[in-house]
Amino acid sequence: MHRFVFAIFLCFAALLNGEASADVKTCSGIVETRVRTDEVSITDFGGVGDGKTVNTAAFREAVYRIEHLSRRGGTLLYVPPGVFLTGSFNLTSNMTLYLARGAVIKATQDTTNWPLIAPLPSYGRGRELPGGRYMSFIHGDGLHDVIITGENGTIDGQGDIWWNMWRQGTLQFTRPNLVEFMNSQSIIISNVVFKNSPFWNIHPVYCSNVVIHYVTILAPSDSPNTDGIDPDSSSNVCIEDSYISTGDDLVAVKSGWDEYGIAYNRSSTGITIRRITGSSPFAGIAVGSETSGGVENILVEHINLSNMGVGIHLKTNTGRGGLIKNITVSDVYMENVRKGIKIAGDVGGHPDDKYDPNALPVMTDITIRNVRGERVLQAGSIHGLKDSPFSGVCLNNISLAGRVEERDTPWQCSNVRGGAVEVSPLPCAELTSTSQSGACSVPS
Ligand SMILES: *[C@@H]1O[C@H](CO)[C@@H](O)[C@H](O)[C@H]1NC(C)=O
Ligand SMILES: *[C@@H]1O[C@H](CO)[C@@H](O)[C@H](O)[C@H]1NC(C)=O
Ligand SMILES: *[C@@H]1O[C@H](CO)[C@@H](O)[C@H](O)[C@H]1NC(C)=O
Ligand SMILES: *[C@@H]1O[C@H](CO)[C@@H](O)[C@H](O)[C@H]1NC(C)=O
Ligand SMILES: *[C@@H]1O[C@H](CO)[C@@H](O)[C@H](O)[C@H]1NC(C)=O
Ligand SMILES: *[C@@H]1O[C@H](CO)[C@@H](O)[C@H](O)[C@H]1NC(C)=O
Ligand SMILES: *[C@@H]1O[C@H](CO)[C@@H](O)[C@H](O)[C@H]1NC(C)=O
Repeated sequence: MHRFVFAIFLCFAALLNGEASADVKTCSGIVETRVRTDEVSITDFGGVGDGKTVNTAAFREAVYRIEHLSRRGGTLLYVPPGVFLTGSFNLTSNMTLYLARGAVIKATQDTTNWPLIAPLPSYGRGRELPGGRYMSFIHGDGLHDVIITGENGTIDGQGDIWWNMWRQGTLQFTRPNLVEFMNSQSIIISNVVFKNSPFWNIHPVYCSNVVIHYVTILAPSDSPNTDGIDPDSSSNVCIEDSYISTGDDLVAVKSGWDEYGIAYNRSSTGITIRRITGSSPFAGIAVGSETSGGVENILVEHINLSNMGVGIHLKTNTGRGGLIKNITVSDVYMENVRKGIKIAGDVGGHPDDKYDPNALPVMTDITIRNVRGERVLQAGSIHGLKDSPFSGVCLNNISLAGRVEERDTPWQCSNVRGGAVEVSPLPCAELTSTSQSGACSVPS
């Protein structure tokens, strides 16, 4: 099908869907969708999809031309079926990167010539190692109106060479993300498969108005640090209707690291995460642990997790500072999970020894409700900080059943205030002693 006709078809399909179930909430309205009729193909720039030719020059030339053509309404870069091997490249504003069905954009494994860029100011250094960091495979800085979409073609990071360098301790700098947008607005990522990222998969940082939906993100369960989607110091981000199965947190909301994040002071706010299915040895939905710019107004709903480390994980640490506030998580189903819910103030390392041990995080106004779990080894733990107890933690209508052969293991808590209503197994005294019947309106 011609891709323009196909796009129209998708619009109608979406409309029909919307009419059929008008009460289903979606990300629509956050970013204006654009159908771009001006098109170029990667083959116009000498791109060859034979899986052997290195197409870095073709991608860079195509993006350069799109940037300098400046066509009204922007330009679509079409990637036809085939395997297009390439080094990393930048996107530009007003473009759509379109992967046809059967199109694969595959990263070279040329780690020695991989471009280096400056560390993020809110991290002060690379996340893994001091100094700069390798540029993301597909990168965008200071952009607006960018779409990555298509017919579920694949962006493949061929990350195993990077994972092995990590395992062997031979990495020079922090590994590249698969896709990163920095300082950008009005971004849509949909109908693409992301595979084998060297590090985090999709990283919007210092961005606003970002929609990520109908994506599939895959990496082996033993691949290190392959987080699915990490909205970082970003606002108005909506993530929905996606399948994510990786070696680290499926979605983790972040906002910078210790003294660097505190100084940069850019929060993540207005983040919606819904209808995500997946599995991982780490967390399903996480906040943190890098939260120094603050994380506020987060809504997580209709999450389906299986074979997990932790279902829901809110994590921070001493030295982080940052306010974590107004987080609502509801309608979560989890199956075969090591720990259902974990809220902790002692997770994650520090960038260096210059962090301020008196910079205590504040966590308040956390509601978790309508959660059902089966084969959950431990229901949950909530450990606040002695000098900054977590407050306003409300658990409501939560049932986390243990494995049949074992007794339900109880909740563990310290330094937390809040309430619990209809929670099984019975949560700790810190929560039950302050609970109020009916609602979970908790004193903070
Ligand atoms: C992007 O498109 C808009 C609207 O067509 C135009 O005003 C703007 O100059 C374009 N921006 C760039 C960077 O090409
Ligand atoms: C891509 O963007 C990075 C960071 O913005 C920049 O350092 C680099 O020069 C750009 N590369 C190309 C080929 O334009
Ligand atoms: C792509 O995959 C998503 C998620 O599985 C699915 O919802 C969507 O219909 C697929 N799109 C196309 C164009 O095949
Ligand atoms: C951080 O930014 C917020 C506004 O977003 C402001 O209220 C606050 O004072 C700032 N904090 C610091 C330490 O600059
Ligand atoms: C809390 O966050 C939600 C989004 O999850 C938002 O709709 C609501 O207005 C926020 N509440 C306050 C008091 O800011
Ligand atoms: C969760 O997803 C699995 C597929 O991964 C599906 O079989 C199951 O029905 C879903 N459960 C719920 C409660 O949505
Ligand atoms: C409790 O949560 C379950 C989902 O786990 C939901 O189906 C049910 O409607 C909830 N009950 C109430 C009273 O909200």
